Amino acid sequence: MPLLTAQGPEHTRILGLGHYRPANVVTNQDLIDRGVDTDDAWIRSRVGIAERRWADPGETVVDMAEQAASKALASAGVGATDIDMVLVATCTMPTPVPAAAPNLAARLGIDAPGAYDISSGCSGFVYSINAASAAIRAGQATNVLVVASERFSGWLDMTDRSTCIILGDAAGAAVIGSSDVPGFGPAVWGSDGAQYDSVAIDEQTRFFRQDGQAVYRWATGTMAPIALEACRRAGVKPEELAAFIPHQANLRIIDAIARRLGLPDEKVARDIVTSGNTSAATIPLAMSRMVERGEIPSGAPVLLLGFGSGLAYAGQVVLAP
Ligand SMILES: CC(C)(COP(=O)(O)OP(=O)(O)OC[C@H]1O[C@@H](n2cnc3c(N)ncnc32)[C@H](O)[C@@H]1OP(=O)(O)O)[C@@H](O)C(=O)NCCC(=O)NCCS
Repeated sequence: MPLLTAQGPEHTRILGLGHYRPANVVTNQDLIDRGVDTDDAWIRSRVGIAERRWADPGETVVDMAEQAASKALASAGVGATDIDMVLVATCTMPTPVPAAAPNLAARLGIDAPGAYDISSGCSGFVYSINAASAAIRAGQATNVLVVASERFSGWLDMTDRSTCIILGDAAGAAVIGSSDVPGFGPAVWGSDGAQYDSVAIDEQTRFFRQDGQAVYRWATGTMAPIALEACRRAGVKPEELAAFIPHQANLRIIDAIARRLGLPDEKVARDIVTSGNTSAATIPLAMSRMVERGEIPSGAPVLLLGFGSGLAYAGQVVLAP
């Protein structure tokens, strides 16, 4: 006997964005003062970071997610009662279960949503907005709250100067809903499982670790073609993009990919300078801040490019809210 099935609207888009950065600013000099054997010039020239934010000891992944989500709901003009699915992209919850999403939903007063977390490291936000869009188009949700929230300051080896200087804490959020026009181009996603262990929380030490040089080579060598393919599949020429928002892992990686796309500096997100690498949160954080500063017109095409642990990646052109 054939089952009844659900069917949703043809198109979806980002309706609103929000972000949150902890108040606590940690400069490169602050790290030196805490005993890290490094210098400001090295960090700025090799990675591009001037400062990052670290959460207060009692400030959690869900606390930061709540702040960013509230702003995204307000900017989308969508009430908590209109949300029926909540997705949280994170890999820094203190324990594998419970997930952040049901707790976040309860705090926001969202009643009985489908709620789950997505763990895909730094590409998690792009994977999550696609899961949200697919759920709406399949008739399984109406409005989806997607939040990327990371608290890497709790997973740092302060004696490893090649990693502890890079990571920061933050959250970025988006509300995804139906649309008259297509708001998402096709995602170009994949992973290189042969290098699955290159970016990890170490099983023994419980600290973040990465093979920086291997990931650097992989990102600079393979991400530009993914970005170009995402543009091609969306029918958008790179020069037509209003902004390019890649994962904020290293300014040199960002600049290398932007050069391959032929994009001028003013169209490229460089949030890493004052936010550090906040893993899954970098893309919605940078996008929300650029929209807030009036740097991206509403409805303009924006290229997102997540990459990192896995080594998983996802490139996609989306319309700005
Ligand atoms: C992590 C990363 C910034 C390190 O930069 P790097 O140039 O590869 O640095 P290396 O680890 O090779 O170290 C080079 C030298 O700098 C030194 N160094 C490393 N960290 C330093 C620091 N914070 N301050 C000063 N010197 C440092 C090293 O000790 C080494 O010195 P040596 O040559 O005397 O041994 C870079 O590899 C990177 O960004 N990789 C990609 C990360 C990424 O994209 N991750 C994605 C998921 S988040």
